[in-house]
Amino acid sequence: MTNVDYSALIPNNVDLAGDRSLTRALERWHPQFIDWWLQMGPSGFQEAEVYLRTAVSVEPGGWAKFGFVKMPEYRWGILLAPAEPERKIPFGDHKGEPAWQEVPGEYRSLLRRLLVIQGDTEPASVEQQRSLGQTAPSLYDMRNLFQVNVEEARHLWAMAYLLHKYFGRDGRDEAEALLQRRSGDADRPRILGAFNEQTPDWLSFFMFTSFTDRDGNMQLGALAQSGFDPLSRTCRFMLTEEGHHMFVGKSGVERILERTCEAMIAAGISDPSNGDAVRDLGVFDLPTIQKKVNFHYSVSLDLFGSEISTNAANAFTAGIKGRFKERDIEDDHQLHAATYPVTRLLDGAIEEVEMPALNALNARLMDDYIADIGAVVEAWNKVITKNGIEFELTLPHRGFNRRIGEFRDAHVAPDGRVLSEVTWSAQRNSWLPTTDDLDYTLSLMQSEVEVGSYAGWIAPARGGIGGKPGVFEYVRLAS
Ligand SMILES: [Fe+2]
Ligand SMILES: [Fe+2]
Repeated sequence: MTNVDYSALIPNNVDLAGDRSLTRALERWHPQFIDWWLQMGPSGFQEAEVYLRTAVSVEPGGWAKFGFVKMPEYRWGILLAPAEPERKIPFGDHKGEPAWQEVPGEYRSLLRRLLVIQGDTEPASVEQQRSLGQTAPSLYDMRNLFQVNVEEARHLWAMAYLLHKYFGRDGRDEAEALLQRRSGDADRPRILGAFNEQTPDWLSFFMFTSFTDRDGNMQLGALAQSGFDPLSRTCRFMLTEEGHHMFVGKSGVERILERTCEAMIAAGISDPSNGDAVRDLGVFDLPTIQKKVNFHYSVSLDLFGSEISTNAANAFTAGIKGRFKERDIEDDHQLHAATYPVTRLLDGAIEEVEMPALNALNARLMDDYIADIGAVVEAWNKVITKNGIEFELTLPHRGFNRRIGEFRDAHVAPDGRVLSEVTWSAQRNSWLPTTDDLDYTLSLMQSEVEVGSYAGWIAPARGGIGGKPGVFEYVRLAS
């Protein structure tokens, strides 16, 4: 069944109508979700009409339709990618057995935990971004923010559906708890650290969607391999939406760089390290952007968990969470005898060590991520070189500024030197954003709501969205 039933209160392609008790449970969850959205969703824009895409099918190609919607009336739906007939579990000890359509009892709590962790990130990012509408650099950017927000909320629906449908009473409790935790709250924070950080400004938002949504993309890619078929199908459809979130981030940073370079050239500034002179032009200086890269990269690496992890090994062996692009990898997909090189800190020195591949799955996913984000940074650097400015953005060493995993207790410089805490701390402000950097960033954040106008620190969008031109009233603000 691939058509989406939009006549139902909860649009879906999972035949909700055929399951009365599940429908009732979700209909009880629905008003709590709306309460959460009104409380924690985009602040000040609940009445605005936004040009949004809504998923109306799960077929590649024409899966979305665009139109003006007030966000609280958005049709959040439950959408699974089409079933692959005769799908087999692609990895782990159950490799080759038919994919599970029900939760295997022995893996119930493992699976529930993974769903809760993934599910928790979705509302968290909406909460982190809730004030950004008020300082949007254009209506185009504001629309993209809201698109990301409603889709993250749909991802919450996706996980809440799986919890409700397959986990009975404790699933319902977990789905409720997803609406009760709050990003950054001292008493009931979101589960993962990066999702309790603030996203107070648009540079942070573009970095977040570049770095952190890309982590999400890797995690979904690994869960899309799952032997638990409903999870696999759910994640496959979520990946379709994730592409846009990463586009928003990557192109946003590109446009910031474009504008910075343009302003530097116009003012005759050739030395990018002259941050103050560049700031006088009302744009972001390149060293500040580098510091933001350092911060968002290191915080996102922490999301992969410990490089060496028995939990990850167990989830793989169980057939619950695979590797990124599992099916493209040429090996036995069981890994009992395989090894994998892991960058470790041993006796104060950084070394690459062959480890049992099963225990190194988080390290491997992190490596895939590092390669993926490396290509993005390369694209950013092209903008700088194209403008003839000598400056290169780089990713810091993977051990830099880590809170979790191999390097959590180490003090690693961006270039990979292992330092003492004192030496590291003395240079912290040249590597990571300072209060002064954040104040400057905030000073640039002022909303620009004229149709087709952009704030002075970012270049215009290169094209429109959803069949509309670049100059278009993407958000009709409520009067
Ligand atoms: Fe998401
Ligand atoms: Fe996302």
